[in-house]
Amino acid sequence: MDKIIVEGGRALQGQVKISGAKNAALPILASSLLTDGTNTYANVPDLKDVESIKLLLAHHGARVETVGDTVRIDASGLNNHEAPYDLVRKMRASVLVLGPLLARLKKARVSLPGGCAIGARPINLHLKGLAALGARIELNHGYVEATADELRGAEIYLDTVTVTGTENLMMAAVLARGVTVLRNAAREPEIVALAEALNRMGAAIEGAGTSVVTIQGVPCLHPVAVSIIPDRIEAGTFMVAAALTRGKVTLVDCAPEHLGACIHKLRLTGAEINIDGQTIHVEGRGRIASVDIKTQPYPGFPTDMQAQFMVLMSVASGLSLICETIFENRFIHVSELKRMGADIQISGNSAMIKGVPSLSGAPVMATDLRASASLILAGLIADGQTVVNRVYHLDRGYQSIEKKFARLGAAIWRQK
Ligand code: EPU
Repeated sequence: MDKIIVEGGRALQGQVKISGAKNAALPILASSLLTDGTNTYANVPDLKDVESIKLLLAHHGARVETVGDTVRIDASGLNNHEAPYDLVRKMRASVLVLGPLLARLKKARVSLPGGCAIGARPINLHLKGLAALGARIELNHGYVEATADELRGAEIYLDTVTVTGTENLMMAAVLARGVTVLRNAAREPEIVALAEALNRMGAAIEGAGTSVVTIQGVPCLHPVAVSIIPDRIEAGTFMVAAALTRGKVTLVDCAPEHLGACIHKLRLTGAEINIDGQTIHVEGRGRIASVDIKTQPYPGFPTDMQAQFMVLMSVASGLSLICETIFENRFIHVSELKRMGADIQISGNSAMIKGVPSLSGAPVMATDLRASASLILAGLIADGQTVVNRVYHLDRGYQSIEKKFARLGAAIWRQK
């Protein structure tokens, strides 16, 4: 398996282009199952997870064609309602085909995704919501089997704010008879992006981006051409890297309006951040101030940026507290960061970080995407060489991360 090698100690300088958002691309590509005809998606990131969803859609009978960052999907040939274990186990977000398959074929058989490194991650709320829309749900042999004679609009209250749960229910409800109201819906920019894509297909969704989403069902949808929004987590990762290395980095083609919490917290650490349209300039200088964070659903501080921010705090000037409220086991990076010299104590869902003057390079690995990204960040400032193993996780969610860092002047390369 590939490794990424980083030699620390260089301040990042220059410009980096932010790719399309993984977590917007996955549901939007899945929504292609809702209609016949060719949908065209631009600015699709080149990632392992995007490969996985394309394979899955093809497995369901869709024709998928990729040219550069444009993906065309025609689901006229949709003929298979089963998402098998082998495809779903590679990527939990495969569960996003459940809503569209049920809406379109009135039946779906999707492998239960199971837990993963960061937590148990049940899909009970997806299933409760689909049942409220009139689906019969059975769990057999590790699969969710959902059938419906007809989906009917319903009032659905989500006990926990769930991103893919909100997305699945939106995609099921767009073709249901009558009105669906999702309460306590997720408000992430990726939800808004999916709702916009669906509305351009002819759906009638209102309130996306607020906690109450109303969906008036329509009889059918038509194909669209949409561009995937910029990846706010990739952008946040590069912003932290600039601050951490005391560098000066310009992020282009990003969406500063989606990065409110990150920008606010980074400014408190002392980083200078200037915004100019879709461009963000970040300059890190002097001492890094300690800042507490608590992860929350959007617009709170994103759990997907917690590990990266922890690296910054591990070399800050004092004590900071990071509280993870979304996933029960999202401190996988801590033991690896400690091996690199960080001073971190975990108690329940909180981590107390005492800033140290420097980190030291080491062989490391992590079993989660964002944890792996945090180890690259740690490598950028560590003394000597850091070897990040199991690069597979990084390739799931960051497009050419080592090339982007190398262009900013980092000493980083991939070893096959
Ligand atoms: N939850 C339930 N029941 C459900 C669904 C969720 O209890 O039916 C709980 C989860 O266990 C978790 C919380 O609700 O404690 C929030 O989970 P959510 O469903 O929002 O997470 P997700 O939809 O599975 C998406 C992103 C994640 C991101 C989270 C939180 C995609 C494809 N994935 O996951 O992204 O961390 O929202 O923002 O959109 C990543 O990109 O690295 C990543 C993990």
